[in-house]
Amino acid sequence: MKKISPVSRSGRFAGGPAADVARFTQSISFDQRLWRHDILGSLVHADMLQKIGVLSRRERNAIVHGLKTIAREIEQGRFRWQAGFEDVHMNIEAALTRRVPAGAKLHTARSRNDQVALDLRLWLRDEIVLLLGETADLQRALVLLGEKNADVLIPGYTHLQRAQPVYLAHHLLAYVEMLERDCERLWDCRSRMNVCPLGSGALAGSTLPLDRACVARLLGFVDAGGRPQLSQNSMDAVSDRDFAVEFCAAAALLAVHFSRLAEDLILWTSAEFNFIKFADAYTTGSSLMPQKKNPDIAELARGKSGRVIGNLVALLTLLKGLPMTYNRDLQEDKERLFDTADTVRATTRLLAAMLRNMKANRAACAAAASDPALLATDLADYLVKKGMPFRPAHHVVGAVVALAEQIGKPLNRLTLAELQSADPVTGTKYFGRDALAVFDLKRAMARRNLTGAPGTKEVAKQLARWREQLS
Ligand code: ARG
Repeated sequence: MKKISPVSRSGRFAGGPAADVARFTQSISFDQRLWRHDILGSLVHADMLQKIGVLSRRERNAIVHGLKTIAREIEQGRFRWQAGFEDVHMNIEAALTRRVPAGAKLHTARSRNDQVALDLRLWLRDEIVLLLGETADLQRALVLLGEKNADVLIPGYTHLQRAQPVYLAHHLLAYVEMLERDCERLWDCRSRMNVCPLGSGALAGSTLPLDRACVARLLGFVDAGGRPQLSQNSMDAVSDRDFAVEFCAAAALLAVHFSRLAEDLILWTSAEFNFIKFADAYTTGSSLMPQKKNPDIAELARGKSGRVIGNLVALLTLLKGLPMTYNRDLQEDKERLFDTADTVRATTRLLAAMLRNMKANRAACAAAASDPALLATDLADYLVKKGMPFRPAHHVVGAVVALAEQIGKPLNRLTLAELQSADPVTGTKYFGRDALAVFDLKRAMARRNLTGAPGTKEVAKQLARWREQLS
């Protein structure tokens, strides 16, 4: 029998594609990274083909040996990828068939359409586990920075205007919470993607008696009870990229969270805030201004969110209006998906390392947090405790702030008489000698002990909870 190499244009075509067509259609330059999962899928497919009698034991063994040899060569960088074979699936199958005649049977009841759907799911499943591990590490770095500076207070901001005092740890833990929801979303999307598409063929399954459940079980496509999870519609299975979209969406939100964290760090490292100091290894110099230390790493963490969001939009645009079922357009999913995974994983690791090498500038934080205006709300709460309704209390304290500004005194230096003069009608009734004690920052922080508030006890409790949860 004439040896037939596994190309998509065999019998029906007189010749190969034009050179520029091959260049245009190839995906091997970027999908070769799927090799490990492609080979894994083929190993299991071969086992199943033997089980149903398509392959003899001997043929199955030869195929398994051939695939393992190829895996070793790829791992050691000795494998020659050929653009002529288009993609990772064809390259591996061609190399196998060259060595093992039975390799020509491996593609029985399989199409690259269900094969690529399988490879992507397998690859992304692993990728998500790695990303989850790295995100947990970033959370740990945030918690650690909070713990190292457990007594450091800073102003909390709204509208980027000083608002009320918070512990630095409380601010950092806000990101830990966001990242936790990101992890939940990633895990959730992983469980939905954990369904085996193999056996869907090009779009309409196969007439051969495949054992799909066996394949699914061997590849770990099982639910919590160990039951195999099979795609239930062959057309859906080969055209579905929901799982890639879901991942890119979860990753985009993660990247948005990174960008906000990065922005806070960039602000904090400016001379205007001066709350933190980056280690030199995580800053860069200016080619012109010798004094500069720039937070480029954080800026890139912020900037890279743009491409991750772009990848999500690109993927959605790619899928929009695509007719059933597989269309070659889908090949364009990979670079967006790969770029998203690579970008968020690299950013996660860099941010974690940067946080581990960061120092809080305690003096600058203390100076900023001691601004008594941050406790104006506490003064209004004082009046409420004395029986004044909140609206008038808000108004009276507003007048106190205006008076302090007018006579050029910080709020906490006003005399009792001055406080009382802000509201000539009821001032003496509500402002007592204990009013100025409101500005004792330590006691002010002890007062904020609602669940989720930045009070001394509550923040310590949250730090301990996260330390425990992340260990
Ligand atoms: N390289 C292709 C992709 O990534 C594999 C599937 C090709 N299928 C086809 N019928 N041409 O989508």
